Amino acid sequence: MTRELGDVIPAPAEVRPDAAAHFTIDDGTAISAASGTEQVAAYLADVLRPATGFGLPVGDGPAAIVLRLDGALGDEEYRLEIAAAGVTLTGGAPAGLFHGVQTLRQLLPAEVFATAPRQATWRLPGGTIADRPRFGYRGAMLDVARHFFTVDEVKSYVDSLVQFKINHLHLHLTDDQGWRIEIDSWPKLTAISGGDGTGVDGTGPGFYTKADYAEIVAYAAARFVTIVPEIDMPGHVNAAQVAYPELTADGVAPPQRTDVEVGYSSFVAGKEETYAFVGDVLREVAELTPGPYLHIGGDEAQATTAEDYRAFIERVLPLVTAYGKRPVGWHEMAAVDLPAAAVPQFWRIEASDDGTARAAANGSKVLMSPADRTYLDMKYTAESRLGLDWAGTVGVEKAYGWDPAERLPGVGEESVLGVEAPLWSETLRSLADVQTMTFPRLPAIAEIGWSPRAGRDWESFRGRLAAFAPRWREQGVAFHPSPEIPWVD
Ligand code: ACM
Repeated sequence: MTRELGDVIPAPAEVRPDAAAHFTIDDGTAISAASGTEQVAAYLADVLRPATGFGLPVGDGPAAIVLRLDGALGDEEYRLEIAAAGVTLTGGAPAGLFHGVQTLRQLLPAEVFATAPRQATWRLPGGTIADRPRFGYRGAMLDVARHFFTVDEVKSYVDSLVQFKINHLHLHLTDDQGWRIEIDSWPKLTAISGGDGTGVDGTGPGFYTKADYAEIVAYAAARFVTIVPEIDMPGHVNAAQVAYPELTADGVAPPQRTDVEVGYSSFVAGKEETYAFVGDVLREVAELTPGPYLHIGGDEAQATTAEDYRAFIERVLPLVTAYGKRPVGWHEMAAVDLPAAAVPQFWRIEASDDGTARAAANGSKVLMSPADRTYLDMKYTAESRLGLDWAGTVGVEKAYGWDPAERLPGVGEESVLGVEAPLWSETLRSLADVQTMTFPRLPAIAEIGWSPRAGRDWESFRGRLAAFAPRWREQGVAFHPSPEIPWVD
């Protein structure tokens, strides 16, 4: 199928086709990497070689495909010029080049996503794309507490996400049913609550050693994705209390839980042991995490009194800052006066939230994850095999048909940090399950986060999305074949 220059998700900011021109990659094509572009040039060659079977040598001499940097562009901004003589990809920084590479891949035949050599004419449509993101934070979240996903599964997920210019992956590392990150100063967290029988129905055991976590961070960073680790508290802490009974009010270990209830566990706001524990955990996680954010959860603390909740959050926020990180928390956290650097993540289905609006008025940037639009664990339809439906069913058009700067009174464009699509894993048991819930809705959220508001159009989007069925099949990525989309074979 011949691609048009604008057949890209997320929709680029500016597309100027030149119908008279095109460029075809062949076995003589080489890549020229100007200083500072070598890493992305190597990545480009790596993603094109398996399907094309071409050598695609990368050097610094003249070549048909040229990568270069231009400091006048924003870091994530890029310009892709395709002419008969060759292709020039210019980025403001390597991140922008990387996004440009994703655009270039989508402009090639779907077979380019195959993992073994395929016959195709590797033709790129002519013209110029000038592109830049609307929001700096475009995220996905994976719940590895209710069901654990291995390092390789997370890497695979990252590779799927970056195709849509997602640049943050939030890992929900702890919850009532499991603790998934090794903490040297509190080793029983993973020895007990990362082991066999943990996770929902006891089917999702496992945890990341520090080396595992560092491997994920490095893999993501090489793809310009920032890992945002979450330690959920003061609720959702049963797994921690099973491992360390001193974190309960009476010092007695609660039973391990593998059901899907929420709102029953709480750290004790009035106990100093609580803050010794939290301080150690946040320090170790901060040390492992080069990104600027540390997520402290804060959601559904129904077993914590409002007074204790505020006292707890007010003690914990300065710890995050002391370890050099910006606190992120689910928007309940905005019950206290937040420092401007703190990021409330709005997740509910309501059309307003006073605390989040107050935080925005005080200078905080808000991360938008309204469950009725962005939660990838909601069923597509009542018939969906996987997922929950407490926020309703979320079809593709519903995921696409909202705007982050219009959702909450008091939270306009300037107050929005970006968007994130969370995937909770109570009903998920495999990477294929993760992919099925993610695709094709994640591309909708990615376009909302990246593309200009003015150009957003459902008919255009569903037409562009249709072309992803063969791309996902070539990659072995499962997706939900929603009847809302006119899929192509
Ligand atoms: C949440 O869905 N409890 C943040």
